[in-house]
This record gives sequence, C-alpha cells and structure tokens, in this order.
Amino acid sequence: MLWYEKNSFTVERPENDIFIRFDHPMTKEHYISFAAIITFDGMMIKKLYPEQEPEVRFPFFGKGKIFYFCNRDGLFELDP
Ligand SMILES: [Fe+2]
Repeated sequence: MLWYEKNSFTVERPENDIFIRFDHPMTKEHYISFAAIITFDGMMIKKLYPEQEPEVRFPFFGKGKIFYFCNRDGLFELDP
C-alpha cells in the first residue's frame, strides 16, 4: 500500500486469467481510473471508468505486482 487508504478486494483465477474485484466506489467523483499488472518483462494496463463495475480481468502472463490508481487517493499496490 502506497498511501493511507486500505481497500479490500477479491481475486479469482477463471480459466487462465486474473479477475480482481475491488471494494471501492466508482462514482463520477471517486473512482479507480486504471489497474495495471507488471511482471519482470511486461506490463498491461486496463482503463476503468466511473459508474462501471469496480473489476478488471487480465490474462495471466506471469507472476507480478498489481497496481491501481484512484482519482482521489492516488496509487496503490494490491496487497495480497
Ligand atoms: Fe479511493
């Protein structure tokens, strides 16, 4: 965790993907604007938008770290 906010989340592994659901608002004023997975040799970013579900699905392409950015509270690392 990079800042003070602690968000909870769930992680599932459907098929060969990583599915993350955040317990976080997705209002026009306060939302997650992107999530990213970073491995030793690659990175993938998924953009999220206000009023959509607070969830993201990445294809699994190696172990790495997952980060997400809240428009109000800043950058977080998913803390497994
Ligand atoms: Fe937030």
